[in-house]
Amino acid sequence: MMLTTERLRLRPWQDTDAEDLFFYARDPDVGPACGWAPHKSLEESRAVLRSVLAGPECYALCLKESGRPIGTAELMLAGNTDLTDRADECELGYWLGKPYWGQGYMPEAAAELLRHAFEELGMRAVWCGYHAGNDQSRRVQEKLGFAFHHDRPVQVLGRPTTGRVNLLTREQWLARR
Ligand SMILES: CC(C)(COP(=O)(O)OP(=O)(O)OC[C@H]1O[C@@H](n2cnc3c(N)ncnc32)[C@H](O)[C@@H]1OP(=O)(O)O)[C@@H](O)C(=O)NCCC(=O)NCCS
Repeated sequence: MMLTTERLRLRPWQDTDAEDLFFYARDPDVGPACGWAPHKSLEESRAVLRSVLAGPECYALCLKESGRPIGTAELMLAGNTDLTDRADECELGYWLGKPYWGQGYMPEAAAELLRHAFEELGMRAVWCGYHAGNDQSRRVQEKLGFAFHHDRPVQVLGRPTTGRVNLLTREQWLARR
């Protein structure tokens, strides 16, 4: 599956992306915000490409200009998310390499992924969350139209914190178009 936005091409991750992945994923400001530790080696990034980033709706966000990945966005389907077990709901997750923060890339990519979820995958709702205090991710979800649903206690790299869970239904998404 390939999706396209004004500035990005969304395509499956490939083994040959390992060096780009390691470059961004070793940054201590990226992974921990999502709940995973910074990558420690190229080998670790290679393993992550074949496991974590190999889901059917997981996309490398590639700059059209260079063709190289700068982040990821995924629709985690039932069985691969703890926010739902319904086949017509999924969870949106994402991260972006730090040099590209603040330029609207994630709202752009995620908007296309939501369109794909509702129009092509037949989803009735998409869940999305962030850890309390992650204002960057909160803003992305606000821009996409997500609404607060509930808080839950979560562990992030062994430390307890609050997980804020948001929801966007198909009706809400249609009403914003
Ligand atoms: C969350 C994330 C994907 C946002 O993507 P993005 O493309 O930068 O999103 P935006 O450009 O819309 O910026 C979102 C907010 O980040 C803040 N921001 C912008 N530039 C920033 C920078 N250089 N450093 C820190 N924060 C910045 C702004 O508050 C902005 O909100 P605004 O547009 O209302 O001013 C990105 O910050 C990221 O990957 N963070 C680390 C991993 C993470 O938190 N993933 C989500 C886990 S739930």
